[in-house]
Amino acid sequence: MTKKKTHIMLFTNPSFSSQLYCSLKTKNSRSPYFKTRTSFSKKQLMARVIVIYDTKYGNTKLAAEKIAEGLREVEGTETAIDYVKNINLNELANFDALVIGAPNHVGKPSRTILKFIDQLAKTQLKSKRIAVFDTYFKHERNFEKATRKMEKAITEKLPNVSLLTPGLSVRVEDVNGPVAEGELPKCIEFGKRIANQIKK
Ligand SMILES: Cc1cc2nc3c(=O)[nH]c(=O)nc-3n(C[C@H](O)[C@H](O)[C@H](O)COP(=O)(O)O)c2cc1C
Repeated sequence: MTKKKTHIMLFTNPSFSSQLYCSLKTKNSRSPYFKTRTSFSKKQLMARVIVIYDTKYGNTKLAAEKIAEGLREVEGTETAIDYVKNINLNELANFDALVIGAPNHVGKPSRTILKFIDQLAKTQLKSKRIAVFDTYFKHERNFEKATRKMEKAITEKLPNVSLLTPGLSVRVEDVNGPVAEGELPKCIEFGKRIANQIKK
């Protein structure tokens, strides 16, 4: 038997604060990999979504966590969340929808997120649904700037992908936070809206 190693992402439930990864051996019926597969098949009717964020000071991560919280509030959704640099593109096939969040950096989504969208374009992403969000520094002129650019990049580079609910732009009081009052409840509502859109 070949001991081929694989990397599998376990979905979170509300009792997990972040996703779990384990490196497991395939072709071993006693391995947790098989247990995971069994639970996947039982949950075929669940819509699987992953929230992917970039962050430097933590604002976008906090917004992502609140969006994940909203997603989990809707029955029928399994939610994972991870920092963009941890994402294994091959594992995205496990998800029905992606939610991508970037801090606004000089009027655009962060370079890391733009690069990630470029990588998605090179991946065999079958039809997927994507929603985006950004965090921006307090002034009205910055509102939705990065989300609109993410949506434009996705529309141009990923023709098979459909955009979900219009992007969410989250205001922060200062570059390193905090997130402005009243913005986090909007993140939870955004998550719920997405969950209701992707429900099977
Ligand atoms: C290098 C840099 C450039 C930025 N440029 C802008 C900008 O042009 N417009 C804006 O609204 N915010 C700008 N910001 C503020 C960030 O968008 C904001 O602080 C964001 O919440 C940071 O997210 P993070 O805490 O997840 O890193 C900039 C921040 C940094 C670090």
